[in-house]
Amino acid sequence: MAEIDLLARLPKTRRDIRKRHEAQTPGNIAIARQYGEGYFDGSRDVGYGGYRYDGRWIPIAEDIIRHFGLKAGDRVLDVGCAKGFLVKDLMKVCPGLEAFGLDISEYALTHCEPEVVGRLHLGSADRLPFPDRSFSAVVSINTIHNFERHDAIRAVREVERLAPGRGFIQVDAYRTAEQRELFLSWVLTARYHDYPHEWIRLFKEAGYTGDYYWTILE
Ligand SMILES: C[S@@+](CC[C@H](N)C(=O)[O-])C[C@H]1O[C@@H](n2cnc3c(N)ncnc32)[C@H](O)[C@@H]1O
Repeated sequence: MAEIDLLARLPKTRRDIRKRHEAQTPGNIAIARQYGEGYFDGSRDVGYGGYRYDGRWIPIAEDIIRHFGLKAGDRVLDVGCAKGFLVKDLMKVCPGLEAFGLDISEYALTHCEPEVVGRLHLGSADRLPFPDRSFSAVVSINTIHNFERHDAIRAVREVERLAPGRGFIQVDAYRTAEQRELFLSWVLTARYHDYPHEWIRLFKEAGYTGDYYWTILE
């Protein structure tokens, strides 16, 4: 298991934390957790405020391919793939790579990029409908924190089951009390979030041997 920032080249999003904090109502949280149109393409109060392809995942796809040494013919899975931007870019960067995605959002999958039609599966990260060891690598970015701790463990086990030692999981975390406060003023969907050492404890409990990194608001 190693800590590695595979999203280092992702542009930082500008966030109006104060405005979001005011919008953190139970109603908005409930809308966000439906992962429907509101979450992806509705207002910023309930999610992304417009989730559109702009190529920003291409450098991340390059880094994932390099990190895992992926090549044409290999299979890679993105768990929590949303509209399939990363799946598309993995195949763009490495022609012949067999990239797939899985997400719980029917809205995201039915509004996916044309290049990934037929490659995205509807399902939940804690029950991946694929055989053991069936992927050369599995990534899950900003998704597994949406479970309660117990189910997050199941989801981490699923990543490990499909690609032992060849996973990459990124989740919400904070290193300081100040970062935690900031995070709590922003969060809508995450149910389990913690300090890195607690996440690492969870990974160990799950028997996870892949890599990981943190999404930290600063
Ligand atoms: C913050 S978005 C991240 C999307 C993409 N991975 C990225 O980093 O841009 C969280 C994604 O997790 C999906 N999701 C939430 N709960 C899930 C679950 N139980 N199983 C699979 N996907 C889930 C949502 O629909 C959404 O697409």
